[in-house]
Formats: sequence, structure tokens, C-alpha cells
Amino acid sequence: MNTNAEMLEKLQNLQSKPQIRILAMESSCDETAAAIIENGRKILSSVIFSQADTHALYGGVVPEIASRAHVDACDRVIDQALKEAGMALSDLDALAVTYGPGLVGALLTGVNCMKGLSFTSRLPLIPVNHIEGHVSANFLTTPDLEPPFLCLIVSGGHSHIVRVNDYADYTLLGQTVDDAAGEAFDKAARVLGLNYPGGPLLSRLAESGNDTYLELPKPHPAGRYDFSFSGLKTAFLNACHKMDQKGETLPRADLAASFEKAVVDTLSEKALLAMQESGLSTLCLAGGVSANRRLREEMTRLSQKHGFQLCMPELWLCTDNAAMIGSAAYYRLRKGELADLTLNANPALALKM
Ligand code: KG4
Ligand code: ZN
Repeated sequence: MNTNAEMLEKLQNLQSKPQIRILAMESSCDETAAAIIENGRKILSSVIFSQADTHALYGGVVPEIASRAHVDACDRVIDQALKEAGMALSDLDALAVTYGPGLVGALLTGVNCMKGLSFTSRLPLIPVNHIEGHVSANFLTTPDLEPPFLCLIVSGGHSHIVRVNDYADYTLLGQTVDDAAGEAFDKAARVLGLNYPGGPLLSRLAESGNDTYLELPKPHPAGRYDFSFSGLKTAFLNACHKMDQKGETLPRADLAASFEKAVVDTLSEKALLAMQESGLSTLCLAGGVSANRRLREEMTRLSQKHGFQLCMPELWLCTDNAAMIGSAAYYRLRKGELADLTLNANPALALKM
């Protein structure tokens, strides 16, 4: 077993090493991914195996199927990440793994796989929060990005506005009081007869729609930078069901455009407010919903109008991947944070403030 003394010595050696290469693994939902990242910024390889087609048969992620598919894929994605980078395990400095939040069985697969690899390779293991990974995707896309900055995190399970004070150091300014933005997109998509994952499909449908077709309520939760999507979602579902009951054909593109506009307006207004009151000059977007075309365009327009820098991950880095986990891991390593073999998955892990 890797002893604490052995790990402490390795940590001390790593902290003075100029080039740190981390093999990271991500398996919190339905992507099995591995990547090798140098110094938190440079992608040496990245492999993503998506299970989306399998889950689409059921209209959403089936946790047990996801866990089994991760078990099948994890060795393969690691081998491929090493091959793509032209590296062997002996060329690596550390391992990293997402340990929460996410689906417990899916997380456990990655955690156990990397604990096993850490045990046999004697490489230190860095535990990473998935949400922190999404924030760090920006370090991969914008090489000169340095904290402090503000970050709008919008994924399938989270909608947060955080102040990134320093690497791996956050202050939560606001969050959703009910559903996450991605969750709302997926539910609205389902009512429009779109398959999983609904967000990107709804967005595509919205491109040919009239966004003034349906006016949706704009909720105002008590917290200045908080969001609420549940009222908006319910109003949307009710409008669709009413049309259905009357036997009317749903104007699907118009409905999609109206819904997308309502969500994007809510997100962008709160992000702008937080930005203006923060005194900071940079806003980053993060999480699956930050791949949304309309959100990216609206935030670009606002950044130009109000004169702040906007950073957005490349599209493939918005949704789940292991490269972002390898980036976040580097900054946790610099803080001396390592896991031992008692590391467990934590499906409800909060972003450490
Ligand atoms: O960050 P992510 O890949 O996984 C989580 O950590 O949850 O986010 C997935 C979410 C899903 O709800 C998906 O529908 C949404 O991001 N999403 C989008 C788009 N691409 C992904 N929502 C709207 N427009 C998109 N283009
Ligand atoms: Zn995610």
C-alpha cells in the first residue's frame, strides 16, 4: 500500500518540478474520459467515450447502464490517452479523478479504477470536484487567464455564479434555488418530443423559430444573483400541454426559441449584474449549457457593450471531458491536496469554498 510518508515525499518532489504531467479520469455521468494535461494548461491527449446513444434509447441516463459502460470503457480510454500522448505510465507525475458530484455508481467506477492504478503505479492520486473541472476548462482555452474572475457555471445539475478568487479558491455569489439550467433545457426538450440529450437538440430547433411566440415568466428569487427555472419550466410545460389537449399542432421551433430566449435572458441578466457589481474585468462561462449558441452570442454582445473580457471554453470542453479534470488537478496538487486509498465517491459533493 502507498504509505503516507511515501506520498509526502512524492508531493515535495512534485512541488519543485517544472513540468507536471497528470493523467485524469472523468466518469461522473455518461462520458468515460481520460486525458493527459501538462501544468494545468496544455492538453497532451484527450479521449472521450460518450454513452449518449445508449441512453437515448431510454430518453435519459440510466445510472446502472452508465456504471457498467464505464467499467467496460475505463481501461480503453486510459490506454488510448497514453497512446495519443506517446507516453507510458512511467512518464506521468500524478493521477487525478472526479470523485463528485454525479451519479454514485458512475463516480465509483472512475474512483476505483484510478485508486487501483495509483496503487500499482505508485503515482499520487488527486481528487477533483467535477464543477471545479468545468471552471478549469477555461484555463485550457485561454492560456493567459489568471484569477480573480467571475464564472457563470451552467451544467445539467448546477447553475452557479462564483467569484474565482484564486486557483482552487471560490466564493459562491448566487445559484439556482430549484432546477439547473441544463435540467430545464432537457425537460422542455422532452415535451417537444426531442430525445436525450435535449439541450443541444432544442437549441438547434430554436434556430428557425420565433422567440416572441410565447412569453414566459421571469422569476425573481430573493438572492440578488440567484436563479429560478422551475416556474419558467412549468409555464412552458403547461402551455404545451394545453395546445396538445386542444388537438393543436405544436409550433415546436417557436416554442423552442421562446424557451431558449427566456433561459438565456435569465442567465445573462444575472451574470451581467454580478459582473458589474464585482469590480472584476473578466467573466468566464462553464458547463454543458455554456455550449449554447444563443448564450454565447448574448454574452459576447454584453461583454462588448459593457467592456469586460469574456472567456468561453471551446465547445468540446464545455461538456464533460477529462482534460478539464486534469487542469483542476494541477492547481489542487500545487496546494498539496492528495487522496489516499480511502477516497470514496461523493455524489453530492459541493464546490469547496
Ligand atoms: O456539464 P454537462 O456536460 O454535464 C453535467 O455536469 O451536468 O452538462 C450537460 C447539460 C445537459 O443538460 C445538456 O442538455 C446541456 O448541458 N447542454 C446544452 C447544450 N449542450 C449541452 N444546453 C443547451 N444548449 C446546448 N447547446
Ligand atoms: Zn459536467
